[in-house]
Amino acid sequence: ALASRETFSTRKLFILSAIGSAVGLGNIWRFPYIAYDNGGGAFLIPYLAALLSAGIPLLFLDYAIGHKFRGSAPLAYRRLHRGAEVLGWWQVLVCFIIAIYYAVIIAWAAMYTWFSVTKAWGDDAAGFLMGEFLQVAEVPGVTLDYVPGIFWPLLIVWLVIIVIMVAGVRRGISRANGIFLPLLVVMFVLLVAQSLFLPGAIDGLNAFFTPNWEALGDPTVWAAAYGHIFFSLSVAFGIMITYSSYLKRKTDLTGSGMVVAFANSGFEMLAGIGVFAALGFMAQAAGSAIDEVATAGIGLAFIAFPTIVSEAPFGAIMGVLFFGSLVFAGVTSLISILEVIVAAVQDKSGWSRVASAVAVCVPVALISIVLFPTVTGLYLLDTFDAFVNSFGILAGALVAVVMIAWVFRKLPVLSKHLNRTSSIKMRWTWMILVGVVAPLALAYMLYNEFVTKINEPYEGYPVDFLAVYGWGMAGALVVVAIILSLIPWSKKSKIDDP
Ligand code: PHE
Ligand code: NA
Repeated sequence: ALASRETFSTRKLFILSAIGSAVGLGNIWRFPYIAYDNGGGAFLIPYLAALLSAGIPLLFLDYAIGHKFRGSAPLAYRRLHRGAEVLGWWQVLVCFIIAIYYAVIIAWAAMYTWFSVTKAWGDDAAGFLMGEFLQVAEVPGVTLDYVPGIFWPLLIVWLVIIVIMVAGVRRGISRANGIFLPLLVVMFVLLVAQSLFLPGAIDGLNAFFTPNWEALGDPTVWAAAYGHIFFSLSVAFGIMITYSSYLKRKTDLTGSGMVVAFANSGFEMLAGIGVFAALGFMAQAAGSAIDEVATAGIGLAFIAFPTIVSEAPFGAIMGVLFFGSLVFAGVTSLISILEVIVAAVQDKSGWSRVASAVAVCVPVALISIVLFPTVTGLYLLDTFDAFVNSFGILAGALVAVVMIAWVFRKLPVLSKHLNRTSSIKMRWTWMILVGVVAPLALAYMLYNEFVTKINEPYEGYPVDFLAVYGWGMAGALVVVAIILSLIPWSKKSKIDDP
């Protein structure tokens, strides 16, 4: 209900939680490689262009919608326009898919934190990951053949997360971010400092920063920058709509947004330095070129880093700092993802916070625990991630922006709301960036994703597997989003007055 809607007790806690959401696995394992692979030092130019021309403007858009209409994504969109509710449910479903596999990666990272002190990985970290640890099956599919070493940690991760979510915005989300985010920053700074002292670190930094100016003429480099920025700022997921709906009436929205955006970018730069210093060491130890050891994602975190940890002086400390950082970065992001779903269910049903949190988190946890700690879980995780990132987020963002700007024509009233509350005032610039630049960038990327995914099966996985768990999953989300938007609202939500 409106009167009892919780708020962040201070703006500082909102900013902290928004940074906690933005700073995630993407900053640590995605940004360094994307920058390296797309021009190194020269990538800074498309990166800043994407940040300023689309990332930050869309962040402001999310803030304006959430704060003006004070609701979860579906409720805020519903209040924006009758026909917009389905956009909110789409974002809720995207968050649902992300939540069920994000937790699994946190569980792996927690186990690797532990292994850093208890285990010598030796020189076959890849073999350990795929064999002893994940016990990955030969062929992609979905099985109920469980791996206890993943099952139990995943269960514990979910128990912790459920406690945080049930406790609510002030006692749960604010408090968890207030503890985990500072801890993450301290650990990560220590990790970067330690990496810089490793032999070979300088070569890694050189590889990371050396500009390849020719990359600037390549459209895919620009697309990579825009794609990364949307993901990295957590825009168009409903997350920032939900969080800003808990802000007090009088809040400087754009000022907060700038702090969040630059904190996130600062963390990415730091991660680039730390990761490439460590990769420089790895390359030197193996007598190979940086190019041969540089990777992203699961390969970087769970294969390259264990190798580095087992060879570096004080490697155990390094491992604890690195994998601990992944855990904290992951938990603060997962909380924000789940809040999108909890808030939506709470608004739609009129149930209490506790009832809504339990009704959402327990089933989500069960689905996550049933599907992923199995010998085929890795394939499913990888496929969900690839399809939800390219279509769920890009397509969702594109449709939302076009509808808001051109069909419902709501940019003027949103821009007015931003200007009324905020320190940084923009009007035409912002409307053009959100209404023209962002949709063009999104459409171009979406087109590219379509072409690549149609031309060759993702990762060479079997076509029927992709048809069900990739394309099929994405299609099912559309249908479910439409159905959810047809269910009537609880009277308590007062959908007609913001
Ligand atoms: N923004 C996070 C990152 O950079 C990822 C994320 C995506 C978090 C979606 C929440 C929701 O890693
Ligand atoms: Na990020």
